[in-house]
This record gives sequence, C-alpha cells and structure tokens, in this order.
Amino acid sequence: MDTGMDIQRGASTTASPLVRDLLQRDTKIVEPAILRTGSALPDSKPVPVRRYTDPAYAQLEHEHIWSKSWQVVGREEDLPEIGDRKPYVAGRLSYIIIRSGADEFKALANSCLHRGNQLCAAASSGEKIRCAFHGWTWNLDGSLAHVPSRWDFPNVADEAFRLPEAKLARWGGFLFINPDPDAAPLEQSLGVITTDFRDQDARDRFTIVHARKKVRANWKVVLEAFLEAYHVIETHSDSMGFTGDASTQYDIFDNGISHVSRLITPLGVPSPHLNDTVSARQAGEYAAFAFGMAMPGVALPTITSDATARSEVAAWRRATLGAAFGHDFSDASDSYMLDSIQYYMFPNFCPWLGEGLPLSYQFTPGATPDESVMEIRFTAPLPASGQRPPPAEMIELDFDTKLSSVPQFGVLAHVFDQDFSNLPTIQAGLRTACSHNGVCTLGRYQESRIQHLHDVLESIIGC
Ligand code: FES
Ligand SMILES: [Fe+2]
Repeated sequence: MDTGMDIQRGASTTASPLVRDLLQRDTKIVEPAILRTGSALPDSKPVPVRRYTDPAYAQLEHEHIWSKSWQVVGREEDLPEIGDRKPYVAGRLSYIIIRSGADEFKALANSCLHRGNQLCAAASSGEKIRCAFHGWTWNLDGSLAHVPSRWDFPNVADEAFRLPEAKLARWGGFLFINPDPDAAPLEQSLGVITTDFRDQDARDRFTIVHARKKVRANWKVVLEAFLEAYHVIETHSDSMGFTGDASTQYDIFDNGISHVSRLITPLGVPSPHLNDTVSARQAGEYAAFAFGMAMPGVALPTITSDATARSEVAAWRRATLGAAFGHDFSDASDSYMLDSIQYYMFPNFCPWLGEGLPLSYQFTPGATPDESVMEIRFTAPLPASGQRPPPAEMIELDFDTKLSSVPQFGVLAHVFDQDFSNLPTIQAGLRTACSHNGVCTLGRYQESRIQHLHDVLESIIGC
C-alpha cells in the first residue's frame, strides 16, 4: 500500500494537463463513474518471471484461478437462437456455452462422458448435443438423451450421466462462468463495474467488430500490455500527438473480494513527453483525424483555439456519432466522448466505458504457458428503434495474422499490430530472464495495475 512516499501520479504540461484537471474543465457534467477515484497504490515488488513461463505455475493458475473465478466467456448476442453454442477454452478448462432456452444459457462440460471426445470444437447450432465418435447425445439442458446400443451400458444411469455444468451468470449482455459450485454471486466480483456502467448500459449495445487473436505469449503478458499507457512512448510513438499517455490516471478498486482496476488516458491532448511542442489545438486536430478515419465521408471539424480544442472535438463526436447511431449523446461529457477508459476485472475481463474507445477484451490461457488467446470487440449503442442488429461475425486470427488484415478495425488495427508485434519477443525474452535474477521490475504508478494483478495472484495462489 501507499507508504506515504511522494509518488507522482502522472506528468502534465500546459497543453496536456492531468485527467483530474481536464475533468474540471469539461463542458458537461462529468459522469460519476469517471469522477470516481481508486484506493492507494500497491507497493512495487519484483515479479517472478516463472509466473509467465513455468508449466507448474500455469497448473496452479488452473486450480486456483480458472477453476474458481468468475470469467467472461462472451455475449448473449453471440448465441441468438435456442441451441446456438460455442466452445470456451481457458487452458485445461473447456465448456460449451449454449443458449438452452429463450432466455437461458448454460455452460456444459465440453467432454463426452463416454470416452472423452470434445463435444464442441467450433460455433454451431442444433437441438441436441451429439458426440461425433459413437453418437452419445444430450439435451440442451445437459440431460442424457440417447446412448446407441444402450443395452451394452447397464451401468449408465441417466441422472449420473448428465453433462456437468459450471455456474453461469449474466451482466450487461456479457456471459460469465464459474466452475466452482460454491462461488459467490458474480456481482461481488464485478464490484464498482456494476455501478460505473449504469450510465452506459452494456446490455443496450451490440457488437460491430469481433476478433479472436492467438498470441505466442502468456495470457498475463498479453493482458498486461493493455493495462498501462507507459509503452505508448516507444510502441505507439505515432499516437503521441493526440494521446496524454503520461497523464493517464490509474485507479485500483479492491475490497478483498472484487479485484478491479481502471485507467483513463486522455485523448485530444498531446503527450507530456512532447514538452508542449505540439499545441492543444494541433492535438485536437490530430485526434479528430484519427477518430475520423473510422468514419469515412464524415467532414472533420475546424478547431479554433487551444483553450477549446478538446471540447470542440467532443462536440463533433457527439454530433457525428449521434447521427451515425441514432443516439442522443447531448449530456455525455467530453471525457466520455473522447477518452480511453478501460476497466479490468480479475482475471480476464476488460470492459471500456464511454465512446472514446468502445471496446471489450477477453483473455484466456492457451495449451501451454507460452500461448494465449485475446478476444477484441467493438460495440455500438443500439439504434433508437431499439431493434438489435445482427452481431458481427467473429473473425479468427491465427498467430501470424495481423489485425490489419481485418478492414473493419480501421486505424486501430495498426495500433493493435504494434502491441501484438511486441508480445512474442516479450515471451522469448522472459524465457532468458535468468540474466536479471528472474524478475521483472514495475513502475510505481504507471504499472500499478500490473502490480495489483500480481498481488491478487499471490494472495490466491500463495506464490
Ligand atoms: S466418445 Fe463420445 S460417444 Fe464415444
Ligand atoms: Fe498498446
């Protein structure tokens, strides 16, 4: 915890103030969620490299984290019809996520009770769950429906051969599972997220871009690459003209049960690293250009002054996004319209608040500690008609496929590819980390969310 040391919480310049100063200058009433601030900083401690590379540690994570935590597995809209299903895999964990009724979902074991064949390898649909090996069949509620040559299995009783299921709960249109039958309600894990997203009901949104990316790096290496803006100066230097990277505010909300953290990176201001060589007005123009690339044909705004640059971009966003989605943003704050506001719920869920970057992330471990999968979604508010458009189809991206191969990602594909290009080399470097005592070193403030993640891991796993 914060020991009273004078820790600098971000850097600022005339053109790039801290988040708290920008919120004071906002032209609208700022949403309470954005004004909320977190608790004290965790102490910095060396992070053992084996947590990213050691199969024994991955096994401990399987036993203590993935088998006992609420984890996001998708959205309701992914499974629109009764019988629609998809596999959810997190390391050794595998469940079939299925719409079992008009307003009911289940997470059933993805392994045949006959001789173990995987029951669901890809998104599919049907009235029954049928094993492709010998044809054992289950109903959508997990009850046993049919065994070929049933006379040959006198010991198979229907009740004992239901497909085992994990707990499943829903929030904001997202589906979560917890394999632990004694798990506390999901809301206890979501913590502040349940109140902070009241102004932007995630249920009233739909997926406009959806990709699933395989990465040659541990799931925490991938997750951690998205928990801090410290890497912008080196990895995304071409975004510094309109990104207040070092002005980012980091908050931790942890009550011992809910482990949540958040960052707010202001957009439409230059990086403090640029030392005011880029003006606030130029930063506004760069931000409008970047936002505009996702909206071809929409005229860019004329920014008139340094003092009003950010609010002018926000006003343009309210008008153009409002027209595109048939949605009224007139009360939304400048911060809500522009900034990157990303929450993280341990272990694998990142919902983003606001329209600056309306994303969500899902992270899962792969078959070895050196591989993982990240799902990325863009969402948009439902049109004024309330009619839910069909969700975007999920695009599978293999290890070496770039996001820039997906035109729907627009300018952000370039940013994601910058991040993804680092990840395999981080994993490779961690494997040689004996050269520096087998530990990583974290920044006290800008990497505090990573420290918090490791404090949670350590408190649950014990190492
Ligand atoms: S393994 Fe599934 S029916 Fe035999
Ligand atoms: Fe990044």
